[in-house]
Amino acid sequence: MSREHREPFELEPAIAWPLDGRPRAVLVGAETDQRRERVEESVEELERLGETAGVEVVAKVIQSVRQISPATYIGSGKVAELRELARARGATMVIFDEPLSPAQQRNLERALGLRVIDRSQLILDIFAARARSLAGKLQVELARLQYLLPRLPRKWQHLSRLGGGVGTRGPGETQLEVDRRRVRERIAVIRRRLREVARTRALHREGRARVPFPTIALVGYTNSGKSTLLNRLTHAQALVEDKLFATLDPMVRRLQLPSGTRALLVDTVGFIHKLPHGFVDAFKSTLEEMRSADLLLHVVDAASPQAEAQQEVVRRVLEEIGAGGIPALLVWNKIDLLGGELPRFRAGDGIPISALTGQGVEELLAAVDRALASGQERVELEVPAARAEMLERVYRAGKVLRHEVVDGMVRVTALLPAKVAGQLRKEMREQRQAAAE
Ligand code: GTP
Repeated sequence: MSREHREPFELEPAIAWPLDGRPRAVLVGAETDQRRERVEESVEELERLGETAGVEVVAKVIQSVRQISPATYIGSGKVAELRELARARGATMVIFDEPLSPAQQRNLERALGLRVIDRSQLILDIFAARARSLAGKLQVELARLQYLLPRLPRKWQHLSRLGGGVGTRGPGETQLEVDRRRVRERIAVIRRRLREVARTRALHREGRARVPFPTIALVGYTNSGKSTLLNRLTHAQALVEDKLFATLDPMVRRLQLPSGTRALLVDTVGFIHKLPHGFVDAFKSTLEEMRSADLLLHVVDAASPQAEAQQEVVRRVLEEIGAGGIPALLVWNKIDLLGGELPRFRAGDGIPISALTGQGVEELLAAVDRALASGQERVELEVPAARAEMLERVYRAGKVLRHEVVDGMVRVTALLPAKVAGQLRKEMREQRQAAAE
C-alpha cells in the first residue's frame, strides 16, 4: 500500500456555516400513506437535533406525500413552494426528516439552490463533533464514509488530502474513480482498526468479568439524564450537557451499593428514534458493553411528553442488539420537573428519581441491590487458608453467612452473584484436578 492511501480524508461536515452567523434551516417532514402518526413529534426531535448541531430553525413544514417522487421525494409543485418559503425566511439549508437517496438529494439541491441534507447526515455531523475516544472517532468516520460512498459524484470535491499535495491519478482513472477507491481503502483500514479495538475491548471486558463485580449499564433515550445519574451515583465527571448525544463513548465507574456490594457502572450512548441505517453496526463495540451487563438501568425522562414512545425505541434497540433478555430496572428521571410526583399512569414498576436533586436515588440503589441479589446463589466453598485472595473475592462480592477453619482449610458459605459463584466453582474444580494430578 502506498503512503497516500494511509493518509486520512478530511470529511467535510454536512452543515455549511455561512459567514454571517448560524446556518438557518427549513425542516421538512413527510406524511406518507404508511406514516401519518408522530410526524410532528419526529420533526420536533429533528429541530432539537438541529439545535444540537448549532442550526437555527427558521421554518418547519409537514408535507403530505401521496407518492414518493424518485427524483425529488416531494412533488415538483411542493418543491417550488419550498423554494419560496426558504427564500422568504432567508434559509441557508433544508433538512429532510426522511432518508433521501443520493439522486433525490442532488436534484433537490439543484432545484432549491440550497444545501439539502437528511436526518442521518445531521446525526452523523453531531456524532462526528462529539466522538472522543479512538473507537468513537473510528466508528463515526466509518459511518460517514459509508454514507458518502454512493454520494461521491456530488461530493468528490470535498475529499481533500490533509496537507494538500498532488493527486495521484492512475492512467485512465477518473477523479471519481480515484476518490471511490480511496474511500473504499480507508473503509478497509478503519474496519481493521476497529477489529483491533474490539479485541482490546473484549480483553477489558474479560478482565472485568474476572473481577467479581457485577456490571450495571445505564441505557436510555438521548438526553434522558444517564450521565447526570452516573455522576450522581459515582461522583464521576462525565460530560453533561443539555444537548443530544453528549455521550458517545462508554464510561466505566465503580459503585458501592448500600449492602456493601461493589459494582461497575457503565454509561452508554443515547438511543434515538430512526437511528440511521448502519449505525447499529458502526457502533457495535459501544453497544456490546450493554450486552455483557448483568443489569440495565433504563433511564427515562419522565417529564418528556414522548416518554412512552422513547421507552419503546430503547426497548426495540436493546432487542436488536441482543440485550433484550438482560434484567432491567425502569428509572423515571427528572421528577423534580413534575413537582416531585410521578403521574399515577407512569408509576408502574419504575423507580421515580431526580438525578439532579438526588431525590429517590437511595431507593434506586436499594432496588439495584435487590435486583442483583435476586441473581445470587448460595455457595459452599472450601478454600485453603493460603489462598487469601480467593477469600477476599468472596467477601468483596457477596455476603458471607458462615466462616470456619478446619485443618488449614477455610469453609465458607456465602451468597454470591451467579457470575462470581460460577467462576469460583470453576477455579475450585481446576485446583482439585491440579492437586489430583
Ligand atoms: P446523551 O449523552 O445525549 O445520551 O444524554 P444523557 O442521557 O447522558 O443526559 P444528560 O445526563 O447529559 O442530561 C441531559 C440534560 O438533562 C442535562 O441538561 C441535565 O442537566 C438534565 N437533567 C438530567 N437529570 C435531570 C433531572 O433529574 N432533573 C432535571 N430537571 N434535569 C435533569
